[in-house]
Amino acid sequence: METPGTWALLLVLLLLVLLTLALPRTRGHLPPGPTPLPLLGNLLQLRPGALYPGLLRLSKKYGPMFTVYLGPWRRVVVLVGHEAVQEALEGQAEAFSGRGMLATLDGTFDGHGVFFSNGERWRQLRRCTMLALRDLGMGKREGEELIQAEAQCLVEAFQGMEGRPFDPSLLLAQATSNIICSLTLGLRFPYEDEDFQALVRAAGGTVLGVSSRWGQTYEMFSRLLKHLPGPHTQLLGYLSVLATFAVQQVQRHKESLDSSAPPCDVVDAFLLKMAKEQHDPSTELTDKNLLMTVIYLLFAGTVTVSTTVRYTLLLLLKYPRVQERVREELIRELGASHAPGLRDRARLPYTDAVLHEAQRLLALVPMGVPRALTRTTCFRGYTLPQGTEVFPLLGSVLHDPEVFEQPEEFNPDRFLDADGRFQKQEAFLPFSLGKRVCLGEGLARAELFLLFTTLLQAFSLDSPCPPGALSLQPAVSGLFNIPPAFQLQVRPH
Ligand code: HEM
Repeated sequence: METPGTWALLLVLLLLVLLTLALPRTRGHLPPGPTPLPLLGNLLQLRPGALYPGLLRLSKKYGPMFTVYLGPWRRVVVLVGHEAVQEALEGQAEAFSGRGMLATLDGTFDGHGVFFSNGERWRQLRRCTMLALRDLGMGKREGEELIQAEAQCLVEAFQGMEGRPFDPSLLLAQATSNIICSLTLGLRFPYEDEDFQALVRAAGGTVLGVSSRWGQTYEMFSRLLKHLPGPHTQLLGYLSVLATFAVQQVQRHKESLDSSAPPCDVVDAFLLKMAKEQHDPSTELTDKNLLMTVIYLLFAGTVTVSTTVRYTLLLLLKYPRVQERVREELIRELGASHAPGLRDRARLPYTDAVLHEAQRLLALVPMGVPRALTRTTCFRGYTLPQGTEVFPLLGSVLHDPEVFEQPEEFNPDRFLDADGRFQKQEAFLPFSLGKRVCLGEGLARAELFLLFTTLLQAFSLDSPCPPGALSLQPAVSGLFNIPPAFQLQVRPH
């Protein structure tokens, strides 16, 4: 006799069959790849939780360009290694400048805001956000002073921990969050502020959620999973903390907007431009686009740089000789009291090399952020239909053995020439490239340099456990590589 469970199972199976029939059919002339199974796509080759290693394994068989199915419906062209990624993202920049899907976040952002939008909407939002950040001092002296001031606050917070081992994650994320909050909202918070801590933790929870094994499963089967209960409710909880905060802040700005004064932050700049364009039917400067841009900036500004600085500190604990060399260079070039500035970078080639090598080794966004073809495009002998999703595997560029000898080793000297001068590497692309290159690259590079050098000038860092026992393996690896938690002790010089 049929039980309700049997009916439910039959219903799910029927649903799956129907959804499989909706497989993408416009094949164009796509690169080869493993044959997808009905309902599962390439699940046998690509396990959630190990998506990136699975894609690297497939590239050994299929080469630098191949097609996979993430679940039954999502067809993706994967690009592996420096040559293929550069040829696409830079060589055919316009065609590869569309944004692909991030299933875990798409429900919330719904194609709005600078990160998730496409076409004319994206062009307007990117221009408006870039101009606002530039006018507020990004890449100029004002921006530098803002970061230097925050770096000093961070030093004081670390001083308060003297002698005791502590996990630096929260403080680092609060420092970088304060920088983006100042630029975007004109606000800075004390580190003890519990609401601020909750906001920063929500950004951290979001990054863990999208990168988790479940997050990767959701990328494959979102059409089905979005209708079922599961861990995405927790992710939505974190996002709603960020969203509630952003809504309040935008409202506060609307109430106090002074159209005769120059804008004090990104939201002001956006609102002023919105007012100017209110009668233009083609404007994309809308409330929803503003809100989604703010949420993304808060998220990216909080998690990316702090995670990278944290990983760099972990490397210095693991390799004490590298820490000594950085400190020797800082003290020799700047002394103990000259606050590091961006102009000092040229005098600190070894420190700069350590920062580059840490970013390279971490490969913060190993699979890149999904792109999509803005038009049907011929590439390397294949015809990729408009809308085809593309994963440019940035980790495979940063660890490309054709460019970086023994890519899995930490070796800052690869960024130095024979005379000890800093030397660029063309394949150093943690911020991606092309028209959709990271919008915060300039800000992120300035933050990384100033936060790291200020901390290292102030303190020696020790690990409570032997360096050999420290692991560098990511605690979570998905959309982001998240380094493991660790404790450190600081001693002032
Ligand atoms: C170490 C720090 C960072 C890294 C490694 C990083 C990396 C990336 C990557 C890989 C992308 C995707 C680009 C593509 O589509 O190919 C991206 C996009 C973006 N990033 Fe960053 N990012 C960092 C910091 C920041 C910061 C601090 C901000 C805040 C201003 C930011 C804002 C953005 C925005 C708005 C986009 C979307 C650009 C667009 O779609 O036009 N990022 N970032």
